[in-house]
Amino acid sequence: MTDILYIQQVKRLCDDFFSTNGYYPGMFVQTFGCQMNDRESEKLQGLLLTMGYKEACNEEEADLVIYNTCCVRENAEKRVYGKLGYLKSCKTKQPNKVIVLCGCMPQREEVLTEINRSYRHVDIVFGTFNKHHFPRLLFEHLTQHKRVIEVLESHIEDEEYSINEFDSQTTRFSPHKAGVTVMHGCDNYCSYCIVPYVRGREKSRSPEEILMEINALVSDGVKEIMLLGQNVNSYGQGLHNPISFAELLTLISEVPGLRRIRFMTSHPKDLSIELIEAIKNCNKVCKHIHLPIQSGSNRILEAMNRGYTGKQYLELLERIRAAIPGIAITTDIIVGFPGEEETDFSDTLEIIQQANFTGAYTFMYSPRKGTPAADLMNEVPKEIIKERFNRLVEAINALQSTHNKKYLNSTVEIMVEDKSDKLKCFTGRTDDNVLVHFESEKDLTPGDLVHVKITGYKTFYMIGDYITTLNR
Ligand code: SAH
Ligand code: SF4
Ligand code: F3S
Repeated sequence: MTDILYIQQVKRLCDDFFSTNGYYPGMFVQTFGCQMNDRESEKLQGLLLTMGYKEACNEEEADLVIYNTCCVRENAEKRVYGKLGYLKSCKTKQPNKVIVLCGCMPQREEVLTEINRSYRHVDIVFGTFNKHHFPRLLFEHLTQHKRVIEVLESHIEDEEYSINEFDSQTTRFSPHKAGVTVMHGCDNYCSYCIVPYVRGREKSRSPEEILMEINALVSDGVKEIMLLGQNVNSYGQGLHNPISFAELLTLISEVPGLRRIRFMTSHPKDLSIELIEAIKNCNKVCKHIHLPIQSGSNRILEAMNRGYTGKQYLELLERIRAAIPGIAITTDIIVGFPGEEETDFSDTLEIIQQANFTGAYTFMYSPRKGTPAADLMNEVPKEIIKERFNRLVEAINALQSTHNKKYLNSTVEIMVEDKSDKLKCFTGRTDDNVLVHFESEKDLTPGDLVHVKITGYKTFYMIGDYITTLNR
């Protein structure tokens, strides 16, 4: 049977469920991890809607629960195990509840062993390479009443069509914005990172497929897209007709009706001059680059296999800022990589000041079995990691506040994201991704571009008043 036939078969089962119970089965999808996982959850949810499921409010009520998981740090995994433990008691009361585990965790052998040993109430398990086969796996479970575990080590050859079909669905959680995966996998092998092992080799989607997906999203009301890849700067290399990420950005910015283009993540070692020029010249491309530095110490950067020094990173920032004055740069930083001494950490504290980041995601190092760094013996004690982490967060928060303060009393362009329950209160984001809460007498719709005067600021958001709506 083809995937579409499985979708129809499950739809029939849902109709039968409705005839017996008087309602369609409810689904609850919870996502852990990065934007790529968020996007894939939207697509799984889209498949379920097509198959006849309706949204449930929580996992207790749902007839089917999906945990789309992340394994980049141990904490993310622990949360999922906690959730699964809780569902065990729910399943005793509701034996027909279907529990699905998918995403990056099942790609790790030790996770599968653990699921088989201690979480036998999980009904369906699949990984990152066969998510498009979810309808078949669900059909098998529903009709054969058995556990279905199918995890692959890489994509099956000749499945391009089915993968693209999965990738190009327009279902999404937000009416006006969507992520668009431009490439899968990662070839960088940073020594601490599990992603290349669970997401496979780098593989770009063709520009035609990407543009088709974006056009479909825009026709469906999307105004802002986030182009997703673990390292978007190396986009296009293995394609039949190689094209650069800069060229892709230029093509996408010509899509009529699209207002904002964001992208993540950029790797500092291969951010080209051509890309800087494209960001500068395409006015739909937001003036914001997320450029993970990870550490300010050259010794640690080398041990991390990042391919640049602190000085090279700063020189790159200089080139970017010379070309695009005022551009916001955010980053990722890991604290407590094995062998990190106080002097290495001071280098990190110093470089974040020099780099003048407008924000950062900060992480405590988490050893991941199977990565080279996990075999290093010189671990930093947990208390020291925590103490350094707190100092780092404080420094980053101060930089973020200073950045927000710069906007005080100025008028900024905001894309409306949401209306709060409180009358006349809206939220939106600036070009450089700062959250803004503002009041407006006029009713606004997500995706509207408006001018807002900033009247106050906090570390993580700004406050303002609506001025006018922009017509473009
Ligand atoms: N491809 C992106 C993001 C990958 S995961 C990039 O290269 O920037 C997001 C972030 O998680 C990374 O940037 C890194 O800061 C962090 N991270 C990855 N592995 C980690 C680990 N083992 N422990 C702590 N943080 C980690
Ligand atoms: Fe992980 Fe490095 Fe690839 Fe990012 S670039 S996903 S940190 S291996
Ligand atoms: Fe996590 Fe997988 Fe994303 S490990 S960060 S969900 S690629």
